[in-house]
Amino acid sequence: MNRASEFWDREIIHQTHVSWMEHSEVRKYINDSVSEGRGLWPIDWFESYLGGRRFARALSIGCGGGPLERDLIRRGLCSRCDAFDGSPQSIAAAQAAAREAGIEGSVHYYVGDFNEPELPKNTYDIVFFHQSLHHVGKLEKLFRAVMRSLKRDGLLYLDEYIGPSRTDWNDQTIALQRLVFESAVPVERRTTPSLPLPIQPDDPSEALRSGEIMKELRVGFEIDSYHPYGGNLLSVLFPFVDWRGSDGAALIGRLIEAERRLLADGQESFHAVIVARPKRGFAGWFARGRYFFVPKAKRVLTETRRRLSS
Ligand SMILES: C[S@@+](CC[C@H](N)C(=O)[O-])C[C@H]1O[C@@H](n2cnc3c(N)ncnc32)[C@H](O)[C@@H]1O
Repeated sequence: MNRASEFWDREIIHQTHVSWMEHSEVRKYINDSVSEGRGLWPIDWFESYLGGRRFARALSIGCGGGPLERDLIRRGLCSRCDAFDGSPQSIAAAQAAAREAGIEGSVHYYVGDFNEPELPKNTYDIVFFHQSLHHVGKLEKLFRAVMRSLKRDGLLYLDEYIGPSRTDWNDQTIALQRLVFESAVPVERRTTPSLPLPIQPDDPSEALRSGEIMKELRVGFEIDSYHPYGGNLLSVLFPFVDWRGSDGAALIGRLIEAERRLLADGQESFHAVIVARPKRGFAGWFARGRYFFVPKAKRVLTETRRRLSS
């Protein structure tokens, strides 16, 4: 976790990452996609989806500087929130912001590693991942721990990048985005001659196994609600285009339309808001067993193959 936490320790103090979600038109598109045209922010949509349900005890995994937990407490959706992250600087920032907001008694922030989860059993009414699950290497181990830590009627809420994993990206997988970049973005608006692969080289945890999230999620959880919101073109192109002025606004409008068409044609969305429930009974027991044994069996197989070939 060291290189990843060093990256996020720096990032919380001085953000270098350019996020497509911060553009107002893109945000409108995301909010409309999540809330079926109602323009609601994801947590507003979630509140309306819940129809008044509230949570006594929540866990947020990968909280960063803590904006989500402050919001959950402020709106009364959760009474108490535990939250952890691997970056000590981010945890310090989250604690300071909670103190400033006067809610330090309702949130407990601590440093922890996604890949070595130590979660109390049968404790939480809801678990949140907000742009953090795609940084997890040991997906099975963490999902198993989350299943066990949720109470019987507990929920899982994800707002995540579920697109290709970092090792899936190559000249072929980025061909569509490059084609759009070269054909739809005027040369004078490009800030790079050629679109690079969307892999953050300084953060080894970026998109570690994002492409496997949905498959692994379905092992142990029933999906109650799935809201894709794209990013297939926009998130990849966004950092490399000058969007200023009215021409920039028109360009982003065209790209949003192109992305809507892609998704309507069946392309798997790179991002989604998802609400899920852990499987219970025999199905839950079986899923926890799969999360436990399958990665071990894969490791043994890989090691055996390696030994045989050498
Ligand atoms: C994209 S940020 C999301 C932060 C926050 N949820 C938000 O939406 O603002 C990803 C977070 O994952 C954390 N992270 C990455 N790898 C980790 C690991 N192995 N264990 C714990 N945290 C990790 C980083 O420190 C970072 O704060």
